[in-house]
Formats: sequence, structure tokens, C-alpha cells
Amino acid sequence: MLTDAHHRIIDYVRLSVTDRCNLRCTYCMPEQMRFVKSSALLTDTEIITLLETLAAAGISKVRITGGEPFLRPGLVPLLAKIKAIPGVRQIAITTNGVLTHRHIPELKALGITHINLSLDTLQPARFQEITRRDQFAAVMQTLDSLLAYQLQVKLNVVVMDQVNTDELVRFAALTREQPIGVRFIEEMPFNGQGHGFSGIRWNYEAILQTLRETYTLHKLPDAPHSTALHYSIPGHLGNIGVIPAYSRTFCGTCNRLRISATGSMKTCLYGLDVLNVKDLIRSGEELLPAIQQALHHRAANGFEAERLHTSALESMSLIGG
Ligand code: GTP
Ligand code: 5AD
Ligand code: SF4
Repeated sequence: MLTDAHHRIIDYVRLSVTDRCNLRCTYCMPEQMRFVKSSALLTDTEIITLLETLAAAGISKVRITGGEPFLRPGLVPLLAKIKAIPGVRQIAITTNGVLTHRHIPELKALGITHINLSLDTLQPARFQEITRRDQFAAVMQTLDSLLAYQLQVKLNVVVMDQVNTDELVRFAALTREQPIGVRFIEEMPFNGQGHGFSGIRWNYEAILQTLRETYTLHKLPDAPHSTALHYSIPGHLGNIGVIPAYSRTFCGTCNRLRISATGSMKTCLYGLDVLNVKDLIRSGEELLPAIQQALHHRAANGFEAERLHTSALESMSLIGG
């Protein structure tokens, strides 16, 4: 079992499989994003070695992130191999939905049940402003298809002041007829630009207050390591959540490790890279002792880790969210 210096059990890994993306969300990366060379990415074999090591040490949930995971060539066969690793009980994917719809039958067949879809607006023109790409229709097609195949869908909505706060109620309304979770996420300072972020005006309390002007919200119980605070709306099939990603109210129960597309490991989203698993694997060194050692130095919370952070220049596409 992997534990950290604060007696937290680590049983969840978030693995970014590519830093590349076919969108350019303004809160995540600049238009002229420089992606890393393919040779700098973990190979499929290295990913399997890493996950076998982690699963043997008690990691049971793997979330595949990016960039956009479906831009990685051969993602679905890789998912099949991950599924076969003893100890991996759940594979989840966070995707922007542009390329996803054509893979949904395969995902269903593989037994991948949890898909988080990023979608910050329900207006095509605004979608293009936020993502700098004209792909709204493709994402909606993915949403429809995920529902048709009865996969568990959570919509990730990053709440941006003066950009999409007028759509919060409309997003919440989607849960009336559809069994989806709509999660409103506080914006974080990882836009890859080092400027343009000055803290948030729309924290989770402001988001909830706005929703309460239209809806009665009933608190639901949250899973032990949930980042989201969940609520139901009477008569709605789905539910809503708020993720205090910037306020960081959930650090005390954080059970995650993060591996970037190039193999850098973070023990906190707001922390520094603490080791590189690709370098360790390529030099034939043992992974587990190094990972355990890094966990012993893990910060108690994101505010502590943030002090170690030299800048907010990083793009979420490399960290993986
Ligand atoms: P599940 O609980 O498995 O659904 O995953 P999740 O909500 O963590 O996954 P997802 O990739 O959909 O992330 C949603 C948002 O939560 C993203 O903006 C993440 O960056 C944010 N988030 C996830 N983990 C952390 C964390 O450890 N710290 C902070 N501050 N934010 C996080
Ligand atoms: N702040 C908050 N959430 C972000 N995401 C990407 N960049 C940011 C940011 N700066 C979200 C994406 C995706 C999830 C993995 O992280 O919308 O759903
Ligand atoms: Fe791509 Fe996700 Fe970043 Fe948007 S948030 S540019 S979809 S990696």
C-alpha cells in the first residue's frame, strides 16, 4: 500500500498520455503551444511497467488524461492492456470529446464506464472563442453517443468570470432529463502563459449561490476522496457538483498521484515535479522505492505545495488536470 507522510493512502493515479491537444482552451494553453517531441513521451511499454508497479502497490483507479488522450496513436489497445493489469479496478478518461464519439462502442466493450467530458459552454460561437477551434458539433455528438451507450458521464465546466457564468443555470438544467453529473470547476492558474490569471471571483460558494437563485439544491453524500461537492435538484435525473480546485478544500483526503505525459511525477497538482519515472525506467532503476521516497516529502496541502511552485507558467495539458 502506498501512503504519504500525512497517513493518506494513495490508490488513484492520473496519467497524462499526451500533451497534445486539438483545442486551445484559453485557460489551459496559448494558441502557439509548443508540444514535446514524441520521443519524450512515455511509451506504451513504459506505461504498462509503471502501472503494473503501481497496481502491485495498491493503486486501483487509473484516470487517463491529456492534452487530449484520443490524440495518442493506439490509445484503445493501450487501454485494453491497462484493463488487464491485476489490481486495476477502474479506468476513467477525461476527454474534450472532439474525437471520442467514434471510439465509444470500443470503450463500452472494454468495460470503461466513467467518462468526464470537458464542455464550458452550450453556445457554438462561444465554444469557438473559449477553445479557439470550431468543434462544438463534434463534442455534442460525443455527449449524445455517451448517453446512448449508457456510459456514466460527468461534464466538466470551468467557470470563468465574464465568459460563461451566464450559462450556469442552463448547464444545471441539462440534469433534468439526462442522468449526467454537471461539475462546475473553479479556474486554476495553469494556462501555460504565466499571465492572465489574477485569482478567481467565481469560487465554489459564488457558483452555488447563483444556482440557488433558480434551484433548490440538496446536499448529497460525497465519496471519500471526491474533489466535488455534490448536490441534487428535486425532480432531476442527474446531479450537479462544484469542484473547489482553486480553494482546495479537499486536500486532507487527497489520494492521487499524477504522472505527466513525459513521465514527471507530482504528488500535488500545485506542486513541483518530484521525479521522472521515464528516466528511472530507461536507466533500469527500481520505481517503487523512489515513488515511496517522494511520497514521504509530500506537502500536506496545495497551499503548502504552491509555495514551492516557481511560477504558474505550466499548461494543464502537460500536467493532465
Ligand atoms: P473523478 O473524481 O474520478 O471523477 O475525477 P476528477 O474529478 O478528479 O477528474 P477530472 O479529470 O474530471 O478533473 C476535474 C477537475 O478537478 C479538473 O479541473 C482537475 O484538475 C480538478 N482536480 C482533480 N484533482 C485535483 C486535485 O488533486 N487538486 C486540485 N486542486 N484540483 C483537482
Ligand atoms: N482551471 C480549471 N480547470 C482546468 N482544466 C484545464 N485547465 C484548467 C484550469 N486552468 C480542466 C479541463 C478538464 C480537466 C482535466 O481540467 O476542463 O476537464
Ligand atoms: Fe485541450 Fe483540455 Fe487544454 Fe482544452 S483544457 S486545450 S481540451 S488539454
